[in-house]
Amino acid sequence: MKHLLSIEALGKEEIETILSRAAEWKRLRGSEHPKPLAGQTWAMIFTKPSTRTRVSFEVGIHELGGKPMFLNAGEIQLGRGEPIKDTARVLGRMTHGAVIRTYEQREVEEFARYSGIPTVNALTDQEHPCQILADIFTIQEKRGPIAGKVVAFIGDGSCNVPISWIFAAAKLGFELRIASPPAYQPPQAILDRAGGNIRVTVDMREAAKDADVLYTDVWVSMGREAEAARRLQELTGYQINRELEKLAKPNALVMHCLPAYRGKEISEEVFERHAQTIFDQAENRLHVQKAALERLVS
Ligand code: CP
Ligand code: NVA
Repeated sequence: MKHLLSIEALGKEEIETILSRAAEWKRLRGSEHPKPLAGQTWAMIFTKPSTRTRVSFEVGIHELGGKPMFLNAGEIQLGRGEPIKDTARVLGRMTHGAVIRTYEQREVEEFARYSGIPTVNALTDQEHPCQILADIFTIQEKRGPIAGKVVAFIGDGSCNVPISWIFAAAKLGFELRIASPPAYQPPQAILDRAGGNIRVTVDMREAAKDADVLYTDVWVSMGREAEAARRLQELTGYQINRELEKLAKPNALVMHCLPAYRGKEISEEVFERHAQTIFDQAENRLHVQKAALERLVS
């Protein structure tokens, strides 16, 4: 694996290898262990805010023996209009890898191509691969193999997180249901490209019925703030709450990639009752990304 740019570009075996190594990194945490990034400096270029992704990569790179170098995109020349391909060619000569959070998928792909160093997508408007790898790890840790399970995504089905879920479904053989208002459903072209057992509906009750996992994400993704009022209005009701939870399997997991907006995409009561799962999910970002970084340098 040269880069981690999308779930779409990952093979089933690659995903399975990362997930099984993640369990090992989780077990090894705090002990003496190999340092696959020893002597390396990794650039972290972020154009959007982040808590989990930034902290998990900074800690993960450090624990693997490397040095993370956080670069707020607004404070480097990229933010003043220097092309990504020039930034890539400079960093490619000085650093050993890059973790990038930005808007367009094209930008991380261009960076990967021009820099020649291992490049990780830390969220774009199109995909959030590290999140979905950690989510699948969490589901398997708690409930066993994801193959054959039913994952119901409720809310804005057109943003990065559900799109990465869509690409995972066919590869790992689980059923994905997405419940969103028509304007927030994933593009048909993506569904066609991904294949797999995916049902898109406006009916969140139908989506939640007997699901193994209920999953949601914010209604207003980063970069969509100008549409906030309209989104809050149009997505109203697409909430994971007690009533919806009752339709899922009795032991269903409730998951959220975070940050969460209580009273919007999830009720306070359901969020707090499932906080253990949700924060395990957040912690697992660290273990899964360490496994991915190790693959990128081996
Ligand atoms: N889930 C996630 O990527 O969180 P951050 O935006 O805080 O990194
Ligand atoms: N869809 C959200 C995910 C946040 C981790 C966003 O892009 O803001």
